[in-house]
Amino acid sequence: MCGIVGYLGCRDAYPVLIKGLHRLEYRGYDSAGIALISGDNELNVYKSKGKVADLERFAESKDISGNIGIAHTRWATHGEPNDANAHPHYSQSRSLALIHNGIIENYTSLRAEMESKGFTFRSNTDTEVIVYLVEYIMQTNRVDLCTAVQLALHQVVGAYAIALISKENPDEIIAARKSSPLVVGIGEDEFFLASDATPIVEYTDRVVYLNDEEIAILRRGEALKVLNLNNVEITPEIKKLAVNLSQLEKGGFPHFMLKEIHEQPRTLQNCIRGRINMEGTNVVLSGVIDNREKFLQAKRIIIVACGTSWHAALIGEHLIEDLCRIPVEVEYASEFRYRNPVILPGDIVIAISQSGETADTLAAIELAKSKGAFIYGICNAVGSSIPRATHSGSYIHVGPEIGVASTKAFTGQVTVLSMLALSIARQKDTIDVDTFTRLVKELQDIPNKIAKVLEQAEAIRDLSKTFTYAHNFIYLGRGYNYPAALEGALKLKEISYIHAEGYPAAEMKHGPIALIDAEMPVVAIATTDSIYEKTISNIQEIKARKGKVIAIVSEGDETVHNIADYCIEVPRTAEPLTPIVASIPLQLLAYYIAVNKGRDVDQPRNLAKSVTVE
Ligand code: F6R
Repeated sequence: MCGIVGYLGCRDAYPVLIKGLHRLEYRGYDSAGIALISGDNELNVYKSKGKVADLERFAESKDISGNIGIAHTRWATHGEPNDANAHPHYSQSRSLALIHNGIIENYTSLRAEMESKGFTFRSNTDTEVIVYLVEYIMQTNRVDLCTAVQLALHQVVGAYAIALISKENPDEIIAARKSSPLVVGIGEDEFFLASDATPIVEYTDRVVYLNDEEIAILRRGEALKVLNLNNVEITPEIKKLAVNLSQLEKGGFPHFMLKEIHEQPRTLQNCIRGRINMEGTNVVLSGVIDNREKFLQAKRIIIVACGTSWHAALIGEHLIEDLCRIPVEVEYASEFRYRNPVILPGDIVIAISQSGETADTLAAIELAKSKGAFIYGICNAVGSSIPRATHSGSYIHVGPEIGVASTKAFTGQVTVLSMLALSIARQKDTIDVDTFTRLVKELQDIPNKIAKVLEQAEAIRDLSKTFTYAHNFIYLGRGYNYPAALEGALKLKEISYIHAEGYPAAEMKHGPIALIDAEMPVVAIATTDSIYEKTISNIQEIKARKGKVIAIVSEGDETVHNIADYCIEVPRTAEPLTPIVASIPLQLLAYYIAVNKGRDVDQPRNLAKSVTVE
């Protein structure tokens, strides 16, 4: 939610900042802005409602000179998306400018206090109060910018990643974070600052991830200095970035989402690589090995996640209960964090998150930690907050996911959960060797099977045209494929804005079947599994009410072909792994319907990739 970029060095800051904003646009895209200190020490702020391209059009005739600047792309929380609410925000005297990602929870009281002192605000945001407060502290306490930021942040309640520049000091950026991510890139005589490493990667591979309540001082001609809010100096840990530039480009595809769908054979290969031995007789997740006893003794596993990651968690529940015989509960992180959940000795909490920054998931982790649970993270974004907040975990290694609708991260999460379940089951001896070996072999073959599904992309595109103008969709699945149905429905609604619901197929008769008529498309996952016959009965019930059935079936299936209106075949695999292959045609169907409708597939309305607010 909201993207932050900063630059200080010898280059022109404007192109670096604009490029950085484009890379971070997936985090929010309702307005954007930039602040630059020009050669003659003017602090110029340009902001515009809309996307980064709108900001560029607005700024092109203005003075965009300067070697230092900060920039922001917004996902509105407080105050509608308009020019005034866009960041950066000036201080009252316009000598400071600030950008912010997060939410200041006590902004109303801070604002009222400032107003009582005669300050007048120019926006409806929660952000503006910080920069006013910082300036007020500088003036009244006669302290420098960094000290004023430290003092101001002591008064602020909430989440923030902020960056400030001052026209009185054109050689310095002050940045700070709490519960919202911030990365500093260290180049030759230059610094970069961003919400994640994507704007930095083409300039340097040396980065420092700030921790909560740390302040970074980026000063021309000096080394990076990191302090905490109490002015204690902290030695920054410089990490090497593993991401490369080509991972951040569309690579010839019209959208990141389509690229990411097509990448899945390779991303899952990367996810599996090094974790299954050559002979396919062992699955090694280092996080599981390092905590072997905890997993072997676990009395219960609770999985917390949001959105697509929550759907992956539901598949994880099936896998772990089925293979490891450990009871599993899956919780929305946003609900878990506000209950008083029972965490018992021997419970393990698994947190799943693509971005590693989701505020609700982070809060659920902190709550579970405070109750003494061992926390295992399953994340994609390396170095993000969740892997740092958890005791141990596994990366899914699918590379940066930029399309707002999650695709390759979902299949990566399910793949890691499959390996986790297999690895625990093998050690607990809850799986026989033959079943283990067969599942491992099937898992190794999943990338090839996905490649086969992708060969049908054109056919799915043709099929999608029939449904461009549908107003509703129902997605059905059972067992392992019920979460895949939920995920298919989520994909469609978030990028096409068509209302879609996912149900366990047998649940239809308890109410939702009333919705079925000849206008209702129903996507039914009916692969040949242990409840195939039951699913067929559920499809018959839909057909008897004239619903239009698009069935996802196993290769060579004949029965469903004779009942459904349209069939998409997927290669046969072991039942626990079917949701991985079955979700690929659902991703493609959602994608093509959204394209047919002319939707902004990579940046659908109202959404943002990284949900760092609750
Ligand atoms: C949907 C989607 C979201 C995320 C959710 C959690 O396509 O991407 O539902 O899955 O916001 O995000 P992470 O996994 O980053 O915690």
